[in-house]
Amino acid sequence: MTSSSLAHIIQGIPKTELHLHIEGSFEPELMFEIANRNNIALDYDSIESLKKAYKFNNLQEFLDIYYTGAQVLIHEQDFFDLTWAYLTKVHSQNVVHVEVFFDPQTHTDRGIEFDVVIKGIYRALEKAKAELNITYKLIMSYLRHLSEEEAFKTLESSVPFKEWIDGVGLDSSEMGNPPSKFINVFKASADHGYKLVAHAGEEGPSDYIWEALDLLNVERIDHGNRCLNDEKLVQRLLDENIALTLCPLSNLELKVIQKMEDHPLVEMLDKGILATIHSDDPAYFGGYMNENYYETAKALNLTKDHLMQLAINGFKASWLSSDEKEKHIEKVKSYFNLMN
Ligand code: ADE
Ligand code: ZN
Repeated sequence: MTSSSLAHIIQGIPKTELHLHIEGSFEPELMFEIANRNNIALDYDSIESLKKAYKFNNLQEFLDIYYTGAQVLIHEQDFFDLTWAYLTKVHSQNVVHVEVFFDPQTHTDRGIEFDVVIKGIYRALEKAKAELNITYKLIMSYLRHLSEEEAFKTLESSVPFKEWIDGVGLDSSEMGNPPSKFINVFKASADHGYKLVAHAGEEGPSDYIWEALDLLNVERIDHGNRCLNDEKLVQRLLDENIALTLCPLSNLELKVIQKMEDHPLVEMLDKGILATIHSDDPAYFGGYMNENYYETAKALNLTKDHLMQLAINGFKASWLSSDEKEKHIEKVKSYFNLMN
């Protein structure tokens, strides 16, 4: 496959994004625009100098910059613009279903009300559903570097907006903040009807993946790269068909892997794990869905069958209804069949 035919094939695949932090889609251009209209001075004097700072040796170095960037988001319109920019971008890449994370505490800790955040995000998601035919789910993530008590406050704030929120997740600094810290708030979230996912095994050990499954009862693991050094865990993922939402460009930029050729994606697919690929924080890691497909395909010599499997896995792992999943999967299959 030539590079341009690979890019062309990837563009045409109907795709789903299941691991995307909306604050991580904040492009420098939009950040400057919103900072200006809110009269906030950024620490960088130009878009270029901001982009130059996007060099990370680990997750924490990234998070420090990511939380700083989010500070310019003040008004409902800012959250709308952020979300709408992401949705129009992925629409251009033939992404047809998204499950989007937002981090309420990144904003409520700065005095921005929960309702300001969620109303802006929700309005953009609804507009995309109506105008771009993109379906969506919304996932509220608890910041794991904060306490469980603070997560409980966030859960309480979310209750009036329960109809808009499909699930809860767990993100931020993984090392030293195991899933076990959040047992009670995950139980309470499930009691409110929220579905459960958690970041685990990104930088942290496979033990954290076990904890997310056994103690938090999550149905999907975000990242989960570290599962492969634990055979029993792999068997568990297979037995229960638990999806791993992998983010190859993120892994590369955060030095979870040293080079793309080292990514465990193919080994996972070969073992039959329900592995999917996503962009995590595309404005910071150099690519959206297409670029994540493209870079992994190039480095790992993915075949058309791999690409089809990845796209199908995305829909299987999503929270769409069985009927909707079936329809999307049929479209993926016929796209690849037409090519042969
Ligand atoms: N928040 C945004 N991106 C994240 C990541 N890759 N891991 C943990 N928390 C995050
Ligand atoms: Zn993530």
